[in-house]
Amino acid sequence: MQIVILKNSAEVAKYGANIFIKQLQSKADSVLGLATGSTPVSLYQSLIRANKEQQISFKDVTTFNLDEYLGLEGTHPQSYRHFMNQQLFDHLDIDKAQTHVPPGDAENPIEACVGYEQLIEAAGGIDIQLLGIGRNGHIGFNEPSSGLMSRTRVKTLTKATIDDNARFFAEGEYQPHLSITMGIGTILDARKVVLLATGESKAEAILATVEGALTAACPASALQLHKNAVLVIDEAAASKL
Ligand code: GLP
Repeated sequence: MQIVILKNSAEVAKYGANIFIKQLQSKADSVLGLATGSTPVSLYQSLIRANKEQQISFKDVTTFNLDEYLGLEGTHPQSYRHFMNQQLFDHLDIDKAQTHVPPGDAENPIEACVGYEQLIEAAGGIDIQLLGIGRNGHIGFNEPSSGLMSRTRVKTLTKATIDDNARFFAEGEYQPHLSITMGIGTILDARKVVLLATGESKAEAILATVEGALTAACPASALQLHKNAVLVIDEAAASKL
C-alpha cells in the first residue's frame, strides 16, 4: 500500500484527479470504478474541467459505481445514480449507457447483484477503482464485519453510517437502511485502487487501515492485500499515523 500525505483536501483532489487523467490518457477505453460521498466531488470537478479542456475524453469510457441505496429509484434526489449524474456524468462527453450504478429499484435485488458482477466481468474488469472511506472504515457500503472476499450483494447499513449520511436527507424523509454494494473481493479485483480521505474525522479509520490488523472489523484494511493500492490523504486524516 502506497501512502501519499498532502497538505489539504484541495491537494488530495488534485493528486487523485491526476491519477485518473493519466489513466485515461494512456487507455482511452478505461473501465473506471467510481464512488459517491463528499470526498470525491472536487476530483470530479477536476475531471470535468480536464474533459472540457480536451485533455481527456470519456467517449470510450465505461464506469461502475460502488454502491446504491436499495429502495430508491435512480431519479430519487438522494440516490447515488442521481448524485453521479449531477456531479459528473451530465458534464462529460460520456455515453450514459456505459455508466453503471447498482440498481436500487431492482425487483429482484439478489439477481441484480449477480448481474452487476457479470457486467463488470464482461467489461474486462475495473482498471482503476476510486474509494472514499467511512468513519468506521467502510468502503463502498461494506460495513465492519463484511467478508474480506465478498462480492456484490445486499448489505444492511450500520447505525453509524445511517447517522453519518442523514445530513443528505431532509427531516422526516425516508432514509434507506439497505444497500447494494460491490463486495470487498470485487474491489480487490480492480487492477488499481485509489482511496481518498480528508479531515480529522477519518484519522481513526486511516490508522486502522494502514497500521491496524487485517480484519473485517475495518473493511478498508483489506487494501493491505492489494498490490497496487494508493491512499491519498491530507495531514488531518494522517494525524494518527
Ligand atoms: C458513503 C459511501 C462511501 C463513502 C462514504 C464516505 O457511506 N457509501 O462510498 O466513502 O459515504 O463519505 P464522505 O466522503 O462524504 O465522507
